[in-house]
Amino acid sequence: MPFKDFEMAAAGHTGIMTDEEESLFIKPVLKQEFDFYNTIKEETFKENSLLKNDAENRGVLPINEWIPKYIGSMSKTSNVSKEDVEKMGDLANMSIQPVYNNTNSTSEAQYIVLENLLNGYRTPNVMDIKLGKILYDESASVDKKNRLIKVSSETTSGSLGFRICGMKLANQCESNYDLFQPSEFCYNNMNTYISVNKTFGRRLKTPAEIRESLKLFFNNHLMGEEYTRSIIKMFNMRLESLIDTLENTKSKFISSSILLIFESNIDRIREHELDDDLIDTDFDILGYLEEICDEDQAMEIEGEVIDVEDIKRGISLSKLKLVDFGHSVIGKNTNIDVDKNTIDGLKVLKDIFQQLSNEF
Ligand SMILES: Nc1ncnc2c1ncn2[C@@H]1O[C@H](COP(=O)(O)OP(=O)(O)OP(=O)(O)O)[C@@H](O)[C@H]1O
Ligand SMILES: [Mg+2]
Repeated sequence: MPFKDFEMAAAGHTGIMTDEEESLFIKPVLKQEFDFYNTIKEETFKENSLLKNDAENRGVLPINEWIPKYIGSMSKTSNVSKEDVEKMGDLANMSIQPVYNNTNSTSEAQYIVLENLLNGYRTPNVMDIKLGKILYDESASVDKKNRLIKVSSETTSGSLGFRICGMKLANQCESNYDLFQPSEFCYNNMNTYISVNKTFGRRLKTPAEIRESLKLFFNNHLMGEEYTRSIIKMFNMRLESLIDTLENTKSKFISSSILLIFESNIDRIREHELDDDLIDTDFDILGYLEEICDEDQAMEIEGEVIDVEDIKRGISLSKLKLVDFGHSVIGKNTNIDVDKNTIDGLKVLKDIFQQLSNEF
């Protein structure tokens, strides 16, 4: 199966790939990130939500609602076919399988295959916000630890508990990008997108500057203020709900991020009538859509005939997801508690979103 570079990463390292249909997100990872996804998959399979005590009864969302769908693993040279990936998808839904081959660790890079969170979007805007004041774990070398302590102390990571790491902005021409210094961003070849690099977020110091950046981000569309207001409100609710999840989940997310994603394509927003869910079901919807032929105008789901356009309208307009678990640990059987480092940052960000909400 041919792969190509994934060009919509808001932050992070190079080497990420996608398939021709851009339905997959394929990233080189180390064992810890596989362990993280495998633990969640195993527990979910055992119908254990990983939530504490009665949290589920109180309607707290389990952690798997906040992360990309886990499809499987591959190595670059293993020549995975489309069918293999589809099979992995089936297996991912069915049973537990150790996808990381530990004995292979000296040979080639292992890639994790995840749902591409942007699949179904036409012109998404994406922001990556790294969480936590503490950015290193026990595995870091002394040099790395000292470097990360310095980064934290000089940026909003230390003062607020989170930092904007990067953005992909649809070039809306009419938007004002004066907030960025020339070295902090660049246009893509086609001039359709702007990449804002990590130096921008490292320069910001105050909650007011964060607010301005979020305002620029959420205004980066041509739909008018009502849309801005409605997406900010959705993200505000999502942050509250995510905090609730993390306050009830034993976990440690060193250097993980939240991804904020929203549609800026006017046609799709209009078709949607601003209707959006707290948690998307995009992966399932796109799966249904792939099963049916282009010319089919209707399909039957559980005995009910549904118009294809109606199904497409179910794809979200915006979403918030947790990503990047290379230094994260989760599970009831670990000796960790809830992750104050991450929750504290999210609470400060939630306050900023509340202020932003009040402004619109
Ligand atoms: N499942 C996904 N679908 C679409 N985009 C994603 C997905 N996961 C991550 N991204 C995008 O890719 C970027 C990089 O991903 P991630 O943070 O997982 O890797 P990284 O920072 O390079 O990881 P590492 O530090 O382990 O090398 C994110 O900023 C985000 O924009
Ligand atoms: Mg990252």
